[in-house]
Amino acid sequence: MKRMLSGIKPTGQLTLGNYIGALRNFVKYQDEYEMVVFIANLHCITQPQDPADLSKNLTDAVALYMACGLDPEKATIFLQTDVKAHAELGYIMACNTYLGELNRMTQFKDKSAKGEKNLTAGLYTYPCLMAADILLYNPDYVPVGDDQKQHVELTRDIANRFNNKYGETFTVPEPLIAKVGARIMSLQDPTKKMSKSDETNKGCIYLLDDLKVARKKIMSAVTDSVGKIQLDKENQPGLYNLIEIASSLSGRSMEEIADEFKDEGYGKLKGYVADVVCAELERIQTRYHEILDSHILEKVLADGAAKARAIADKTLADVETKLGLEIKY
Ligand code: AMP
Ligand code: TRP
Repeated sequence: MKRMLSGIKPTGQLTLGNYIGALRNFVKYQDEYEMVVFIANLHCITQPQDPADLSKNLTDAVALYMACGLDPEKATIFLQTDVKAHAELGYIMACNTYLGELNRMTQFKDKSAKGEKNLTAGLYTYPCLMAADILLYNPDYVPVGDDQKQHVELTRDIANRFNNKYGETFTVPEPLIAKVGARIMSLQDPTKKMSKSDETNKGCIYLLDDLKVARKKIMSAVTDSVGKIQLDKENQPGLYNLIEIASSLSGRSMEEIADEFKDEGYGKLKGYVADVVCAELERIQTRYHEILDSHILEKVLADGAAKARAIADKTLADVETKLGLEIKY
């Protein structure tokens, strides 16, 4: 079975966009691949975090991933800091990465070009830690969003360079970029992605939103003045987005939904979308509370870390030997 690895950086609460665009795919992948999923807590602190918020977001992320269907019997789920090899290999990777390469990383470049103050060295070298996260487990595939593709490319370059210099050590992984289409838009501005950084919060549905609040956000979603329910992404992007949300959660085609409501008003369609979304949120939230109440997270993460360490420590030991870091007695 091919191995797939992904890291989640929960600096905020998970959204319906994350669920439709990413989480649900992981749940599908766990049957086809040996999945390794970790919570990238070290990556979270490359930017300032409130410790209490961070800790809550980390806990929620694990519980929500499981609530959405990630199964610890099938996938290895763990917390990055529980496997110390990440930080050590991260340092070794930094010693095998050129400043020129890091200077080309758009995420850092964009932030410094915007004049953001107090950017940290950790943020600058974070692609090296990400390379370590990946290469420790020799995965075949790394599913990431478009913004992370450049970091996986850098990981491939570092792996190839290391292999050429010190002998075959790392598997060179392939990035797996999510297909376009699953891009859920803001309910308040359908030209923008639904995002946790939404200022008003009205355009974004969080997986842990109160059901009444979620319903209200959908009922007051921005649409258009055309007055006809049909699939016209260009002229009726708000309506299109609502139908896409309902379609991806219900498994019905967008055409079928649009056709059912073609003679109705927008309110009726919104009511249907709200029903579908709230039913899914309710299912996820019930499971989320069950998971938290049963206190299984501790065991899941301990078992996951033990499985992860068995793989990671072996890779790190091999790297240390190849670099000549050991003393031979
Ligand atoms: P982020 O929360 O932006 O770090 O994204 C984490 C993952 O969720 C990425 O794989 C994104 O592709 C996915 N994602 C985030 N927002 C959306 C959205 N509005 N629609 C679809 N996928 C999304
Ligand atoms: N950098 C990723 C993000 O911001 C999270 C991440 C850290 C990651 N390490 C990883 C993703 C390794 C894939 C593989 O979303």
